[in-house]
This record gives sequence, structure tokens and C-alpha cells, in this order.
Amino acid sequence: MAKHTIVKLPGDGIGSVLLDQAISVLEAAGFEAEYVEGDIGWEFWKKEGNPLPQRTIDLIAKHKTALFGAITSKPKDAALEELDQELRKKGLVYSSPIVGLRQHFNLDICQRPTKTYKGNPLNFIRRDGKGGIEEPAIDAVIFRQNTEGLYGGVEWSNPPQEVYNALMTHPKFSKNFGDVPKEEISVSTRIFTRKATERILRAAFDHAKTFGYKSVTVCEKPNVIRETSGMMFSMAKEIQKKDYPDIELWNTNIDAQMMWLTKTPENYGVIVSGNMFGDIVSDGFAGLIGGLGFACSAQINPDNGIGVFEPTHGSAPKYADYDVNITNPIAMVASACMMLDHLKEYDLATKIRSAVADVIAEGEVRTYDMLKLKGSPDVINQGAATTEQMANAIIRKL
Ligand code: NAI
Ligand code: MG
Repeated sequence: MAKHTIVKLPGDGIGSVLLDQAISVLEAAGFEAEYVEGDIGWEFWKKEGNPLPQRTIDLIAKHKTALFGAITSKPKDAALEELDQELRKKGLVYSSPIVGLRQHFNLDICQRPTKTYKGNPLNFIRRDGKGGIEEPAIDAVIFRQNTEGLYGGVEWSNPPQEVYNALMTHPKFSKNFGDVPKEEISVSTRIFTRKATERILRAAFDHAKTFGYKSVTVCEKPNVIRETSGMMFSMAKEIQKKDYPDIELWNTNIDAQMMWLTKTPENYGVIVSGNMFGDIVSDGFAGLIGGLGFACSAQINPDNGIGVFEPTHGSAPKYADYDVNITNPIAMVASACMMLDHLKEYDLATKIRSAVADVIAEGEVRTYDMLKLKGSPDVINQGAATTEQMANAIIRKL
């Protein structure tokens, strides 16, 4: 019997293509695993009215580790239009299965590392102030609270009367919004709990301690969002003082952080944020190391041991139907490496990471994004490698 069983969740669009390529890389590296496939995504919404069927949830609960490609999500009305005729009258509402997975298994620790690959032609550069150009090496790991905050889904348009009444008890609401008709109000809440906030903070500090980062930066906006951001920062101070005195605690506001990451991104080590700011700042850092083709992630619940590993990009539907696949498999392969870390297969992860680094440094095989081409089937004639050629180049290095 294989040592590990992995639930593979291909999803939609480029998700399934990239997932297969990542699995070939894992196999070539000598990872011993069996794969069971879980149904997820748009096809299952259209056919069954549920993009995350219970059987998929059961599979993940049983095997605990999943490697996920990407899914396609569409707005409410478009989703309803594509639903099977029979199901349309049932009042079903589409919601993203990946957000559903995070909430169902409480995958509250999301980790998104962004580390410069030497020789990547997409690396961030800046002027040095003396007429020259610098290329700082970036190594930032973003810890994003993955289940609460603005993406928690507690929201209303034309809120129910009791919600409206409760809001009216807040002096700022009654003063600033009290004369707006209820039907003209939309509210999205930003709920932080102490428990989840402590978990993401501790995950960030532990990571900094284990891997020798000198600082943890809380990236929020406590001067304005006093209750939620404020709670996260004050808890970070307590935790740092008590348990991680050797690690520096820094505090940046999300807006300033977006500016700092284009000026001095090499200064940052571990960054920790709530759900939406974590989403934003991690995409910002990903842009500095080459963009979505390189951005990987892990989503973990340390209590039940469940981990779902996925590139941060989506299903890129416009490229999904090409005869030859052109998208970059590195984000998916790097996500598979995070899965190997989770399974304590550290040597295999290191082996694959160095193979990827070697291919990038050598520069002979580059997908269209690395050549800064506009995505089209013709990029292959312009010298871009296909998805499969890039995966094979990594395999050859192994
Ligand atoms: P996207 O990430 O799919 O694509 C944006 C652009 O990034 C693409 O047009 C392409 O130019 C580039 N890109 C993405 N992955 C790439 C790769 N591996 N190599 C090279 N270039 C790559 O985001 P978009 O277009 O906003 O959304 C498409 C669909 O994906 C939507 O239905 C959206 O809801 C869904 N989505 C799913 C996510 C997930 O499964 N976790 C995350 C983000 C979006
Ligand atoms: Mg995002």
C-alpha cells in the first residue's frame, strides 16, 4: 500500500491540466501516494446544483490531504442560468466550493510564501537612486486568516428589521446612516474572534521562529478599524511579549504596506493579516516574484490535520480550451511542495523546489507569462514552452 492517500480535486478550467502535471512531478520525485479523485466545481453545480457534493467532503474528511487545481465561479444570475432545467426552481444559490471547504473544515490557517527565484525574468526590480537598477531578493510568507473577517459571508442588502434595529443602536450608524432608507443599505460584516485570531498569530510566530525570520508584521489598519484590526494587533503584542521575545513585532497599515512592498519588499519576513487584507497583500507580494504562475498556498486546520493545497490563481477559463496548454505549472508544483512539507516529506519537497529553481535559473524553458507574451495559442510559435514542456523540464532536473 502507498504511504499516503491524496484527494485530488481538479476542478475547472486549467485546474485539472495543472494538477495532472504536478502529480507527474511528484511521481518523478519518488513520492509514494495513491490518488483518489473528488468532484468539485462548476460541472457539479450545473448537473447537481452543488459544486461541493457531500461525497467530496467525505473523501477529504477520510484522507485529510487534498491537492486542489482551481474552480470557476460566476455571479449569482449567471450561475442560475447555467443550472440544469430541473433544478432551477429549487431556490438553489451558488456559492464558491473553495470558500465552502475552508469553512466546513475550518481551514483557518492560510500560508502563502513568496520567494524570489534567481533568474526569473519577471522578478521585481527598482531604481537604486544613483541611476542603476537593483533586484532585491524577496522572502516573505503571508499568514492569512482564512475563515472570518470580510469574507465570512455575514452580509445583507436591505437587512432584516432586527438587524437594522441593532445597527441603529450604534451612534455612528444612526448619525451617519440613520436617514438612509433601509432598502438602500448593504452591509458586509467583518467579524474577528479571539480564538481564530490567536491561531493565525501563533502560526505566524511559530513559522518565524522555526525558519529564522527576524520579524512578524501585523498588516491591518488598527488606527481606523479599531475593534477587529485593533484586537489582532493588541493580541500580537501580548503573544510576542510572552512567548516570542526574540522575534520583532512590526505593525503596518494595509495601504502603506502596499506602498512599502514596491519600495523595500526585502525588509519583510512573516506577515500576518485578516482574511481580506491577507488576500490583498499576498497577491501584491506574488506580483514581485512573477505573479500568479508562481503563487502557491496551503490551507490547514492543525486540530483535525486537514490540509488543502492550491495555487492562488483561478481556472483561467479563457486558456482552458486551447489544443495545447500554455499556463505555467510552477504555482501548482510549488503548492504540491507545501503539501509535501505538511506530510513531513521534507527531502522530496526540497528536491522538487531545487529542480524548479534550476529550470528557472537556466532560462531555456519558459512559459508565456515568463516571456511577457499576451496569452494566445500562438505563444508556442513565439518560443513559449507548453505547460507540459515546463513540467517535463522540472522532471528532467529531478
Ligand atoms: P485567474 O487566476 O483564473 O486568471 C487571471 C489571469 O492570470 C489569467 O487570465 C492569466 O493571464 C493569468 N494566470 C492565471 N493562472 C496562470 C498560470 N498558471 N500561468 C500563467 N498565467 C496565469 O483569475 P480570473 O480570470 O479572475 O478568474 C477566472 C475564474 O477563476 C473565475 O471564475 C474565478 O471565480 C475563478 N477563481 C478561482 C480561484 C480558485 O479556484 N481558488 C481563485 C481565483 C479565481
Ligand atoms: Mg485572492
